[in-house]
Amino acid sequence: MTHEIAVIPGDGIGQEVTPAAVDVLGELNIDFEFVHAEAGDETKAETGTALPEETAEIAADADATLFGAAGETAADVILPLRSIVGSFANVRPARAYPGLDALQPETDLVFIRENTEGVYSGIEDEITEGVRTLTRVITEDASEKIAEYGFQYAKRNGYDDVTIAHKANVMRETDGLFLDTAERVAEERGAEYDTALMDALAMHLAMTPEEYGVVICPNLAGDMLSDLAAGLVGGLGLLPSANIGEENALFEPVHGSAPDIAGEGVANPSAMILSAAMMLDHLEYPEEAETVRAAVESVLDSGPRTPDLGGSASTEEMTEAVVDEL
Ligand code: NAI
Ligand code: MG
Repeated sequence: MTHEIAVIPGDGIGQEVTPAAVDVLGELNIDFEFVHAEAGDETKAETGTALPEETAEIAADADATLFGAAGETAADVILPLRSIVGSFANVRPARAYPGLDALQPETDLVFIRENTEGVYSGIEDEITEGVRTLTRVITEDASEKIAEYGFQYAKRNGYDDVTIAHKANVMRETDGLFLDTAERVAEERGAEYDTALMDALAMHLAMTPEEYGVVICPNLAGDMLSDLAAGLVGGLGLLPSANIGEENALFEPVHGSAPDIAGEGVANPSAMILSAAMMLDHLEYPEEAETVRAAVESVLDSGPRTPDLGGSASTEEMTEAVVDEL
């Protein structure tokens, strides 16, 4: 069976790390057909639009999409792409790897972030000069879906601790609905869980991440808490993510286009390669996914490592080492 994969490198280091993931996938005994497509700042400069119709169609028709990163046009690219693949859940694992000098070496967290609404609803207004508003949308449907997905994920992947993040004490209506719905889902499933106010949770995650496992979050909280967790494990170069829909999905590193190091060939390819491993899981190649993860883990442990991890290797050298491990 051939799997058609849309490959959208985007801008900056997206163009450097995406080929690394494609190289790794090419080493596996799986029949992939890669369809390359363009999006991002450069595409906008050339064509007037950051996400051309052709790219949108390629992503919609593919079995899955690999996306690198976009620059200033990130919101114009990634928000529509997530909705094109029908993604309701953004899965962001943050694990500390052996051999790296992580701030919190016991970290093994997975953020299950609601991916369609909250403050990223896009409903913003200027009421009058100097006064602008944003509508925070929370629906019972989306809250139920993300909670179901989170508890399923925890069970399937052996996580005992599930935390529902919220701020229902202040955002009584919106997060009240999110919290009530997630708790109802937990009770219907007979699942154990905790709830946590998202601000206090940020502090606890920084100090005692080992006490947490799966964290189910509204959209913005998931975005911020997962970047915080990136700091605990050694930086954004390590964090993969999956945008899961009913029938389609998109895989991308949590990081952006990193203009400060773009073009130097030193971006850490781990986040992108680990995103490709999440894609392998999604396409039901769990053994191959584990093989890729083990290869990355081994290179992180013994080197060569890119400068963000204290090494001096290039993106290519680190990718070659991962390929050799396979
Ligand atoms: P960023 O993730 O691009 O970079 C933050 C810091 O982490 C930088 O110092 C960068 O060098 C470092 N870093 C990130 N990934 C790395 C990697 N693989 N290897 C080594 N170091 C790495 O976030 P920033 O600086 O806030 O945004 C830069 C641009 O990226 C902006 O234009 C922003 O809009 C865009 N962006 C795009 C995203 C997307 O396409 N999904 C997500 C986040 C930001
Ligand atoms: Mg972010």
